[in-house]
Amino acid sequence: MISFSGKTVVITGAAGGIGAATARLMHSHGACLVLADAQAAPLEALRDTLCGSPGGDTARLHCVTVDVADEASCSAMAQAASDRFGGIDHLVHAAGVFPEVPIERMTLDQWQQLMRVNSDGTFLACRAVLPHLRDDSSIVTIASIAASRGSAVNAHYCASKGAVLSFTRSLALALAPRTRVNTVSPGIIATGMTEALRETRGARLLASTPMGRFGTGDDVAGAIAFLCSPLAGFVTGENLQVNGGILFD
Ligand SMILES: NC(=O)c1ccc[n+]([C@@H]2O[C@H](COP(=O)([O-])OP(=O)(O)OC[C@H]3O[C@@H](n4cnc5c(N)ncnc54)[C@H](O)[C@@H]3O)[C@@H](O)[C@H]2O)c1
Repeated sequence: MISFSGKTVVITGAAGGIGAATARLMHSHGACLVLADAQAAPLEALRDTLCGSPGGDTARLHCVTVDVADEASCSAMAQAASDRFGGIDHLVHAAGVFPEVPIERMTLDQWQQLMRVNSDGTFLACRAVLPHLRDDSSIVTIASIAASRGSAVNAHYCASKGAVLSFTRSLALALAPRTRVNTVSPGIIATGMTEALRETRGARLLASTPMGRFGTGDDVAGAIAFLCSPLAGFVTGENLQVNGGILFD
């Protein structure tokens, strides 16, 4: 039902669980992909998997090492996408970090470092693609269930995702009708990011998840692909929860 044939999709955090799942899904539906992440080696491994083997057909794939907290790095990523594929149809901004620090011990430096990646990074990645966006384009940012539920062990993360939510809504207002902008708010997704969380508090979190399991990268990728697709052609400024019902506990 969904085709991204002829569309260029920039995915930040592409080496991560949600970004890589989104890359696999959109590649299988014909997209040209710019895989962007701070880590070069897993990006290249993902590219090799997607094109079948090292040395396979990379015509629809391009890897860019990026630090989303850095203005010049984000501009270079967007320019590289435009140079390689002639423009950008979709940005999926999945880069992010999730450290745990109780508020009593949180330093200003820890707060600011987190904000630089999760909040500044969202602003910088989105702003960098603006001059390259084609008609009927879209942006998907990733917030979190944490934005609305809060957490005793990473208030900075929750605050950064609250910022992503309201920034996304504002961007949607600014860019309509040419570009739609939406957020996906995952619950607990089984990626590298939540390994420690699932080990320490997994049983309790599962018990309050009506779907009875953690989410997968593929669960989130499906929601992202939907929001980028023409099926969501009248959806903008929206926050799509992908959390197995945990919010309603
Ligand atoms: N996994 C979950 O349960 C969950 C829940 C809610 C929200 N999210 C959000 O979804 C997004 C993706 O998370 P994930 O589960 O795939 O995590 P992940 O840790 O698997 O992937 C995150 C990726 O972001 C990259 N990254 C980190 N800092 C970067 C920087 N400065 N520049 C460029 N790349 C950088 C990392 O290298 C990594 O590949 C994040 O924004 C995260 O906060 C995840």
